[in-house]
Amino acid sequence: MEINLAGVLPEALLIDLPEIDVQHEEIFRRIESLKAACFGSGPAPLEGFQSLLDYLKHHFATEEQVALEAAADFVDHAKVHRENLHALRRALGEVRHGKRDVHSFLRYAEYWFERHINEEDKPFAASVRACRLKSSTAPQLVVSLQA
Ligand SMILES: [Fe+2]
Ligand SMILES: [Fe+2]
Repeated sequence: MEINLAGVLPEALLIDLPEIDVQHEEIFRRIESLKAACFGSGPAPLEGFQSLLDYLKHHFATEEQVALEAAADFVDHAKVHRENLHALRRALGEVRHGKRDVHSFLRYAEYWFERHINEEDKPFAASVRACRLKSSTAPQLVVSLQA
């Protein structure tokens, strides 16, 4: 049986920055795929978990780049990302050493990510849009080279 993982990001979690929404979709798709792969009693695909963390790191860097380009403040958001990556790496280490099961890791990752989109990424998207609007409507500085 083939599992259709298309469209796993609920509409309520869209933040209206297409380059970020597409990555959020990919993160949820990977979590759903890992849940399916861990169903049953076979060995857990730990490389898939590491790949999820690598993709998260890439995603956080993308958000930082979007903020930088829009000149939006990102200091507190970056700190939240760093703390999350640290917590997920520690949790994955616990999975590797048999101190935490894969389902617990996935529940934690999914819960954290949904909460993060609602509480941090949505305000971040609003501030990026506001900064973009401000820079597009700011009067252009005209420098005359004539004396
Ligand atoms: Fe995000
Ligand atoms: Fe974020």
